[in-house]
Amino acid sequence: MLIKTRKPSDVRSSEITSESVYKDRRSFLKKSGQFAFAGMGVTLVGCSDASEAKPKTKDSVIETGYDNIPQLRAPQWLKEKVATYKQSGYTTSEQLTPYTNVTNYNNFYEFGYGKDDPAKKAVNLKTDPWSITVEGEIEKPGTYTLEDILKGQDVEERIYRLRCVEAWSMVIPWVGFSLADMLKRFQPTSKAKYVEFHTLFDPQQMPGQRSSFSAIQYPYVEGLRIDEAMNPLTFMAIGLYGKTLPPQNGAPLRLVVPWKYGFKSIKSIVKIRFTETMPQSTWVKSGPNEYGFYANVNPEVDHPRWSQKSERRLPNSIWEPNKIETKKFNGYEEEVAHLYKGMDLSKHF
Ligand code: MTE
Repeated sequence: MLIKTRKPSDVRSSEITSESVYKDRRSFLKKSGQFAFAGMGVTLVGCSDASEAKPKTKDSVIETGYDNIPQLRAPQWLKEKVATYKQSGYTTSEQLTPYTNVTNYNNFYEFGYGKDDPAKKAVNLKTDPWSITVEGEIEKPGTYTLEDILKGQDVEERIYRLRCVEAWSMVIPWVGFSLADMLKRFQPTSKAKYVEFHTLFDPQQMPGQRSSFSAIQYPYVEGLRIDEAMNPLTFMAIGLYGKTLPPQNGAPLRLVVPWKYGFKSIKSIVKIRFTETMPQSTWVKSGPNEYGFYANVNPEVDHPRWSQKSERRLPNSIWEPNKIETKKFNGYEEEVAHLYKGMDLSKHF
């Protein structure tokens, strides 16, 4: 499947990033005193990267086999597993966001609110051994090691757009497998209407979880309706740019839901629960008027404090804002619009 969207180079010069969005959010933060929202603010400064070498096209990257991408610490068996990835039809003609941006401009509040905090502070995150507890409305509950989960599981590369609710975006080559493949193995019962995911809770390793100023509760929790979870686009990533996932990107495995705002794509998952009722997700609990359970990318429904009509495609800078139009469902409308037939998406945002 080729997912075509307008290239960054096609952007109209009239679409220039406004700094007022950033300022508006900062003043709200000050007033509300909710420091945890700071990291979800639009940070124009943190993403400046005018000196970045021109991103490689997918073809040139594949030719070199991602030669220049470092292999970070990970168990040998996992490195080998990731290396077996095949190309998939899930791709795009858009330029990949350079590895430097993908791995140094992150949201992972467990390691701080600055965009460069996760790269600095997650370096020693212990991801081996790793296991996932699976429970709730299923026939096969249990605690599965990562090796159990990946045994016999083919992996593939998918190039997806990631659109953050903060109005920046990237194009990332993930390695992983369809979430549906994994969930079906646990044999959900007819009562399984939703799937809830939890990130590791380990305050010793995760400084953000020790902070008494945090406005979000830990562990970080996200959820999907079961049909969203089973949609072929929904992906479990164990790697990016052909190598195992860096800790700051959610090692050893994370969710990727490309038609939803990035906060749904929960990192470093240790628990999956199948439920009959809608999960209480972290961002909905923290700001129900700002962050909805569905969180579908939607340029027609603005965030209460900024527009969602456009986004900054990284890398960008103040001089080259690289602002592009935001597409409904992040450009994956054909694949997912049917899931929301008859729903008022301004209410179910
Ligand atoms: N998962 C956890 N556990 N903690 C987080 O803070 N941030 C989310 C999401 N998953 C987050 C998380 C947000 S807001 C975004 S935009 C994406 O991760 C960013 O993923 P990236 O850092 O790999 O680009």
